[in-house]
Amino acid sequence: MPKEYQNLIAGKWVAADSGERFDDVNPANTNDVVGSFPLAGRNEAQQAVAAAAAAFPDWRATPAPKRGKILLKAAQILENRAEQVAQDLTREEGKTLKEARGETLRAVEIFEYFGGEARRLFGDTVPSAMPNTLLFTQREPLGVVALITPWNFPIAIPAWKMAPALVCGNAVVIKPACLTPLTTLNLVQCLEEAGLPPGVLNLVTGPGSTVGDEMINHPSVRAVSFTGSDEVGTKLYSQVARRAVKCQCEMGGKNPIIVLEDADLEKATDFSIDGAFWSAGQKCTAASRAIVMEPILEDYTKLLVRKTERLVVGDGMEDATQVGPLVDQSQLDRVLGYIQVGIDEGAKLLTGGKRLSGPKYDRGLFVSPTIFGGVTPEMRIAQEEIFGPVLSVIAVKSFDEAIEVANGIKFGLSASIVTQNLARVFQYVNRIEAGQVHVNSTTAGAECHVPFGGVKGSSTGIREQGRVAIDFYTQLKTVYLHY
Ligand code: UN1
Repeated sequence: MPKEYQNLIAGKWVAADSGERFDDVNPANTNDVVGSFPLAGRNEAQQAVAAAAAAFPDWRATPAPKRGKILLKAAQILENRAEQVAQDLTREEGKTLKEARGETLRAVEIFEYFGGEARRLFGDTVPSAMPNTLLFTQREPLGVVALITPWNFPIAIPAWKMAPALVCGNAVVIKPACLTPLTTLNLVQCLEEAGLPPGVLNLVTGPGSTVGDEMINHPSVRAVSFTGSDEVGTKLYSQVARRAVKCQCEMGGKNPIIVLEDADLEKATDFSIDGAFWSAGQKCTAASRAIVMEPILEDYTKLLVRKTERLVVGDGMEDATQVGPLVDQSQLDRVLGYIQVGIDEGAKLLTGGKRLSGPKYDRGLFVSPTIFGGVTPEMRIAQEEIFGPVLSVIAVKSFDEAIEVANGIKFGLSASIVTQNLARVFQYVNRIEAGQVHVNSTTAGAECHVPFGGVKGSSTGIREQGRVAIDFYTQLKTVYLHY
C-alpha cells in the first residue's frame, strides 16, 4: 500500500470529502507508486479559500519581519532535509538526483532571499505640491492569492510564488500539479513546522478543471499566479481578467541557442546539450532550436551528435544517469508525436527519436535524446513547444538571419548566444525577443533575486522573483497627510 498523504486546509491535514484518491507514480518505473493523494474538487477548493480568507487579517497584521523569520526558519528546515526531499522529487518527477538536489537548494535560497525582503517592503516618501503635507505610499497585501504550479519544477516554482506571497502578508491556496504533489507537500510541511499560523497556507491536490477553476473564479481570491502550458495559461488569463484581479502566467518557450562562426564548439555543444536534454527537455527554458552559422554547421553537428549519443539515459536515482524519463504517458505520446511530425515535415533525424526498450527501460517512460538536422524555421518542430528531449538544428547564413529566425516564433522566454564577438553580443542583447538573455551559457537557469519571465506568448503580467515579485503580491496605498 502506498503511503496516504492529505491536504492542508485551515491548519488540518484532511482527506477529500468524497474519500477519493489518486496515485502519484514514478515515471522511471510505473509500478512504483510514490504516494496516494486526496482527489479534491470544488468543495475542498472553497474550504481552502475560506480558510485563507479567515486567516488573512491576523497574518496581514503580523509585522513583516516576523513573517520573514518564519520563511528563514522554513529554509533551514528544508536545508536539513534536502536529501530526502530531493529523492522524493526524483522519484515522482523523474529528473536526475543531481538536478533535484539543485532545485531543492534553490528553494532554500528563495526562502532565504524573500525572508530578507521582509525588511524591505518599502514605500516612497514624496515631496508634496501642497504645504504642510506628508505624501507617502505604503505597500499592502492583496488578500487571498491562488497559486497553480506545474510538475516540472515542483519545488522551485511553488517556492518562488509562495515566498513573496507570504512575506507580503497574503494568505495562500496552492494547487500543485497532480503528477508531483509530494514535493510541494514537503515544502508546505517545512513552512508549517516553521510556525506558519493555520489557514495562512492551504494545499489542495486535484484537477485544474475543478480545483483550479474554483480557485481562480472565487470572489475572495484577489490574485492568481500560474505556471504551465500556454493553452491553459491563456484561457486562465482571460477568465481571471473578467474579474479584474491581478494575474501572472508563465507559459511556454521555444528557446534558441545561436552559435556564431567564432564559437568554441566544445562549449557550444555542451551548452546545447545541457539546455536540450537536462530534465529530459521538460523545461520552459529548454534549448529547443540550435541556430548555427553555415560555415561551422558540419563540425558543430558532428560533435553535437557524438556527445549526445554518449548521454546515459535511465532512472534519475542512479548516479550515472544524465537524462531521466518523461513525466507520464501523455508527455511520452506528445514527444513521440512531434518526432513523427519532424520526420513527416522532411527534417533529418540525426540521432535518437525512439522510445527506449530493454530491461533498464521497459518499466519507465524513456525517449532517447533526439536531434533533427535540416530543420527550416517554419516547420512545426521549429515553432511549437515540444517539452521533451528534442533539439532542432537550423542553419543560417548571417547574424541578421540568426536573429530573425530566433525571433520568428510566438514565444520569447529565454535565449542564448555563443560567441566571443563583443559587438555581436550587444547587438543580440538589444534585438533578441526574450525575457532571459544568456551569453556563452545554456538557455535554462534562474537566480532568485532577479526577475524571471518572458515576452510575447511566454508570459503575461509582472515578472516573478527578484524585487519585482513584491510588486505583484502587494498593492500601493498613497497617503496625503496634511499637518
Ligand atoms: C530554470 O530554467 O531553471 O517551467 C527555471 C519552467 C520555468 C522555470 C525554469 N518556469 O521550466
